[in-house]
Amino acid sequence: MDLAEILRIAAENELDTYARRPVALERGEGAFVFDGAGGRYLDFFAQHAVAIAGHAPPSVVAAIREQAGRLIACTNAFHSPPRAELLAELRAFAEPTQPQLTRAFLCNSGAEAVENALKLARKATGRPGIVAVQRSFHGRTLAALSVTSAGPYRSQHGPLPGDVSFVEVGELAELDAALTQETAAVILEPIQGVGGVRVPNVAWCARLAELCAERGVVLIADEIQTGLGRTGRPFGADTIGLAPQIVTLGKGLGSGVAIGALLTTDALAATVKLGEYGSTFGGNPIASAAAVATLRLVREQDLAGNAARMGERLTAALIRMPAVAEVKGAGLMLGAVLDRSAKGVGHALFDAGIIAGTCADPHMLRILPPLTVGEPEVDAFVDALTGVLHVADASTVAMPAIRLPPSDDDAR
Ligand SMILES: Cc1ncc(COP(=O)(O)O)c(C=O)c1O
Repeated sequence: MDLAEILRIAAENELDTYARRPVALERGEGAFVFDGAGGRYLDFFAQHAVAIAGHAPPSVVAAIREQAGRLIACTNAFHSPPRAELLAELRAFAEPTQPQLTRAFLCNSGAEAVENALKLARKATGRPGIVAVQRSFHGRTLAALSVTSAGPYRSQHGPLPGDVSFVEVGELAELDAALTQETAAVILEPIQGVGGVRVPNVAWCARLAELCAERGVVLIADEIQTGLGRTGRPFGADTIGLAPQIVTLGKGLGSGVAIGALLTTDALAATVKLGEYGSTFGGNPIASAAAVATLRLVREQDLAGNAARMGERLTAALIRMPAVAEVKGAGLMLGAVLDRSAKGVGHALFDAGIIAGTCADPHMLRILPPLTVGEPEVDAFVDALTGVLHVADASTVAMPAIRLPPSDDDAR
């Protein structure tokens, strides 16, 4: 099918909810994706932080193929080898830095993991209240939206469920007042993504952990973007010194195969009764096989360590660029604050064959490459960005044929 036909079918048949580039990707390999017209793109956004082990990593491809030939449909009424292997892999992944996370619930997306995290915290505490933070993003289902404050997502979809209040990250008095006897949980992204790459201050996090412990409030870390090595540590919570009782995972867990997971403690798991949580496809054989192979790559190739090293190299190069005022984030979850529109720079980079992202901060270029990138890819990105920033004002680069995603692009 040619591109014109693909664009026509989408325009005539799909809800108009995504600002897509008029490019159809056909193949991916390592840090690159390819379209059907000879275009090759260095993907420094990893398809919204999903391709953590690169595109089409051979061991993940082999695991999916092998599993597809054996068994595709297996509901939660039965056990299956890939589901069991995934549970063991998740436990082994959490063990070194977050050993309290002994139990998992498997589902199909990030938002579904967040939904179940909120349910579990309410069930375990018998309290209704949830405290979230300003500029958060946790997904687009109704409960996930109820704890989301970034961007325009909440508007006109109310009333949203739940008793939710928002505090500013770093504000101690607000936090103290918000955590009452009615609070079931605090939910936060260890480093915010969609809302602009923002790392909370470690002293505030330490006080948050103390207050939660003192007041019996469950701490939920939404690691859908920060987890699995992205920040240079296994979990984003490791970078800010938190030991959450619930962690949500998604995005990169299946290398692109839809999957979500909730990890929690024995104590919270003990409150769960048969039938309260469930999902037809949660832990299905193909998603589980993909996630097992992905987690093995993350652990065996120390992708968190690589993210830390490559993140340092990239940060050092970015900060030397005169047009870059500041670099935020950790590991390979970086936001470069520019002296001009990030959207314009994103257009120009795309024209040069590089995919990067934007976010709620109009000056921030968001950089989320696969965690497998090496020095050649990092240096190629730096060279391309240097070239683009030498254009007096990249926001004036006219590319009318390309509709870049708006600031909320990460959530798509
Ligand atoms: C931190 C965070 N939480 C939740 C989600 C929602 O995940 P999904 O789109 O898989 O529902 C996202 C997606 O961007 C995210 O970045």
